[in-house]
Amino acid sequence: MTLDEKLRKPLSEIGVTSAEQCQSLFEELNQRLQEDSAAARSSAKVEGFRIDWLGRKNGRLSLLSDNWLKAASSQLKPVVGKLLNGLRIEAEKRLNELMAETKGKIEVRVEGNLDQWKGEVQTELRSVPDITLPGLSHQFGAKHPLTLVREEIEEIFISMGYTVEEGPEIETAYYNFEALNTPENHPARSEQDTFFIRDGGAGRDELLLRTHTSPVQIHTMERMKPPVRAIVPGKVYRRDNPDATHTPMFHQIEGFAVDVDISFCEFKGTLEYFLKAFFGPEKRVRFRPSYFPFTEPSAEVDISCGICGGTGRVGQGIPCRVCKQSGWVEVMGAGMIHPAVFQYVGYDPEEYSGFAFGLGLDRYTMLKYNMPSLDYFFNNDIRFLEQFK
Ligand code: DAH
Repeated sequence: MTLDEKLRKPLSEIGVTSAEQCQSLFEELNQRLQEDSAAARSSAKVEGFRIDWLGRKNGRLSLLSDNWLKAASSQLKPVVGKLLNGLRIEAEKRLNELMAETKGKIEVRVEGNLDQWKGEVQTELRSVPDITLPGLSHQFGAKHPLTLVREEIEEIFISMGYTVEEGPEIETAYYNFEALNTPENHPARSEQDTFFIRDGGAGRDELLLRTHTSPVQIHTMERMKPPVRAIVPGKVYRRDNPDATHTPMFHQIEGFAVDVDISFCEFKGTLEYFLKAFFGPEKRVRFRPSYFPFTEPSAEVDISCGICGGTGRVGQGIPCRVCKQSGWVEVMGAGMIHPAVFQYVGYDPEEYSGFAFGLGLDRYTMLKYNMPSLDYFFNNDIRFLEQFK
């Protein structure tokens, strides 16, 4: 009969009738208690120890009290009572020690065949935070693709000695049109229909949302004497209905350089250098004659199409949709600054010359990342934005 089986029967039934027999039975129990407590080295095992020995219902001490003490003969009762009491004190003492030992420890169970880590490893971490709890995670944002491309373009021009300037988004008609050699009733004004904020008349100019970043040429030249080399990134507005390639607000980067002896050669060389730095050295660049009121001569600048390699066809002869089979994509308007513009800002056109250009940042970003629509920029879909981290 095992010790635990004996606990479930009265002493008389297990043949214990003398004080000596009681004594040795309790010695056996005490021995078992010591073994159990020595084996209890994790908090789960300490709890098991408590339940086995001191559990209210089926703990060994309760069983002992119910089955041995209560049914003991009047001669054995005081003996059993005393021994039981001693055993209870010992069990409680061992339990308290075990609880103090495991408190504040984290238990690391190492599985597998790591020889140096046999069995259970306990790490002392009293009063140290519980590093096993899941941490608080922060969501980090990312730069918007338009910002990434703007910064990349800024870097290229900064490396050529350009500064980065800013100007107001709410403009007067004077800065947006007139000082750019586009007087009232000039047909170029209707090509850039915009949002008017205040009517003109009674000695005041009308207010509008700028249709391009070119007015910042005027602000900058009013402020600075040549030499001036600057780029101007910013938001611009036009009364366009939104579709895949139009939004009523979009982004431009203006650029211009004014100095003595700036030639058409420097103009072409600068823009070619920039376009190859941004789009890739394998791109071909071409200048087509064009018209802008504030430049003379004016040009539209194209690069060879990156999708079809300038051939107008992809794969086995499929017409390229990006360049509409022409092999070229238009990437900026530009020209030599018109002498009339210099007169508006008080620069002597006999002494100074310069060039200017304007490009669409949204379009550059679409070309760079091969995007089919402007929608992605503005609908804040985190699945799109996350790709630019
Ligand atoms: N401002 C023009 C536009 O928005 C772009 C442009 C063309 C800017 C020629 C320039 C330039 O500085 O020289 O369409």
